[in-house]
Amino acid sequence: MTQAALSGKNYVVTGANSGIGLFSARRFAELGANVALVCRNEQRGHEALAEIIATTGNENISLYLADFSSLASVSEMADKLLRDISKIDVLCNNAGGANGSRQVTDEGFETTFVSNHLSSFLLTKKLLPAVLNAASGDLARIVFTSSYGHFNSALNFDDLGLAQGYSTLKAYGRSKLMNLLTARELQYRLRGKNVVVSSFHPGAVRTPIWNKGGMLARLLGLVLYPFMKSIGQGSDTFVWLASSEDQASKEADGHYFYESKRAETAKFATAEDAKRLWQISEELIAPYCLLDAGS
Ligand SMILES: NC(=O)c1ccc[n+]([C@@H]2O[C@H](COP(=O)([O-])OP(=O)(O)OC[C@H]3O[C@@H](n4cnc5c(N)ncnc54)[C@H](OP(=O)(O)O)[C@@H]3O)[C@@H](O)[C@H]2O)c1
Repeated sequence: MTQAALSGKNYVVTGANSGIGLFSARRFAELGANVALVCRNEQRGHEALAEIIATTGNENISLYLADFSSLASVSEMADKLLRDISKIDVLCNNAGGANGSRQVTDEGFETTFVSNHLSSFLLTKKLLPAVLNAASGDLARIVFTSSYGHFNSALNFDDLGLAQGYSTLKAYGRSKLMNLLTARELQYRLRGKNVVVSSFHPGAVRTPIWNKGGMLARLLGLVLYPFMKSIGQGSDTFVWLASSEDQASKEADGHYFYESKRAETAKFATAEDAKRLWQISEELIAPYCLLDAGS
């Protein structure tokens, strides 16, 4: 791809100050895109913004702040983003992490469920008009960072917040299952609209995530460390799905990928569960769709 291949394209990348999100955002900037970085922490966000501008020479990089453990925060940020950017060519739903113990937010949601799934669901719903605006000209894309960890456990719709039997791996795995189910159902709902949706597993990648999810994640990280991919290798599939001219990336069709190829999902990742999750998620985010910080 030439350096200007993404010139004029508007990219939104969540979790853009670290790991896979930062690497991919930098790559899109190198290729000439206008990139909106969505970050939780103001200082880390500004550092990422400055680093990307300095290393790529692309000054069309902007920063938006939201804590994905709060739907109100995500909703407010989405409104701000929409006021600035009316056309979004590519939305990269990447922010995510694990939590060492079960916590419930002020809004009443288990933290992993809201941070890894509900917030990107809400963001996607709110930004969709801008994505469809882009799609009226050229193919638009939405990519979700999922994980092989989704094999860990099927959904229990009676207890999505894992009030019973919480474990870090179960909460994380289910949230990543939700990411791939959301991608699949979203693609179904956007059929014929010139938007390609996908999800992917980056592999086990040497990012800071392993130090943020409590003791178990830290231990697992130590064991897997020698076998992990570099951040660049772990970002390859993301960058491919989000920007490649390869026909296969443009025909991702809601599927789940690993190493730039379609990959098997868990047997329990069914279309029925995708529909049910969509309906429940819509109900849960409904009060936050109405917020508009600017009005
Ligand atoms: N690394 C792996 O082996 C691996 C494997 C499979 C899937 N993944 C997925 O890859 C994605 C990126 O992770 P990474 O490995 O690159 O880890 P990372 O370096 O820790 O990056 C995660 C990003 O998500 C942000 N984030 C986490 N919780 C957030 C919240 N509540 N609100 C706003 N932003 C939040 C982080 O912000 P802060 O910097 O403020 O924490 C950071 O920018 C995640 O969805 C993860 O589940 C990673």
